[in-house]
Amino acid sequence: MKVAVLGAAGGIGQALSLLLKTQLPAGTELSLYDVAPVVPGVAVDLSHIPTDVTVKGFGKDDLADALTGCDIVLIPAGVPRKPGMDRSDLFNINAGIVRNLVDAIADNCPDACTCIITNPVNTTVAIAAEALKAKGVYNKNKLFGVTTLDVIRAETFVGNLKGLNPENVHVPVIGGHSGTTILPLLSQVEGVEFTDEEVASLTTRIQNAGTEVVEAKAGGGSATLSMGQAAARFCLSLVAAMRGENVVEYTYVETKSDDAEFFSHPVRLGKNGVEEILSYGELSEFEENAKNAMLDGLRGDIKLGVDFVNG
Ligand code: 2OP
Repeated sequence: MKVAVLGAAGGIGQALSLLLKTQLPAGTELSLYDVAPVVPGVAVDLSHIPTDVTVKGFGKDDLADALTGCDIVLIPAGVPRKPGMDRSDLFNINAGIVRNLVDAIADNCPDACTCIITNPVNTTVAIAAEALKAKGVYNKNKLFGVTTLDVIRAETFVGNLKGLNPENVHVPVIGGHSGTTILPLLSQVEGVEFTDEEVASLTTRIQNAGTEVVEAKAGGGSATLSMGQAAARFCLSLVAAMRGENVVEYTYVETKSDDAEFFSHPVRLGKNGVEEILSYGELSEFEENAKNAMLDGLRGDIKLGVDFVNG
């Protein structure tokens, strides 16, 4: 198995690469690519950790070598938010970065599962899909927007509020990965009751959690460590599924449903990426209203990505 991290020297990339170096199965190759000149150093640094995962660093001219033979490619590359910015404010810079990286995936490892972390995820996943289509290698079962951070935040906040170990709390989160498009399904959390006020305030906190980090970092960027953990969890789930385990994760995939072309659903993962897109089940009235209110915005985010590639 070969896994690549594109943008491996950045805040998310380094945290993610560390977690993968220590948790990927023995025998995995971990390929670290970045345009930042420090990337060979990051690879050497990680290579001193005694696990049976081989780490190699690739600089800006070596993207093709980084990707050749990859089964999974994770993309955290790009610029993060500063206070006052919305994820969509990153579009102008990050759209082109994602397009170029995905073009290289199409050329060098077209069968790989591609996991997009770069914001605005609602849009960059659509860019990736159109870029892969333009190269004739798009497989909807192998393209994912990583929304796992919304799930782990929801689990943490619910655990803290209810005095439960967050590791035992499971919260479905559907929709997209920005503001009100992030929709936690608190009505489906097993064994926990919420008042209407708790549902309203928890939902808002989960939707604004990224901004909470951006403001706390006060100009120093957005979530890196928790995003590294979330992306590592998603990657390890994908690896486990490719090795035959039965794994379900919430992730932003092409559904072409009545909701939107891309929508985060519970997805059964398998050897070839998406095995089955599962239903997100029944929504409460609050959730149904919240979903209906965000759909136009999400569809607009997706259209922006489609138009970016197709002109
Ligand atoms: C977040 O939700 C960086 O989008 C990321 O914090």
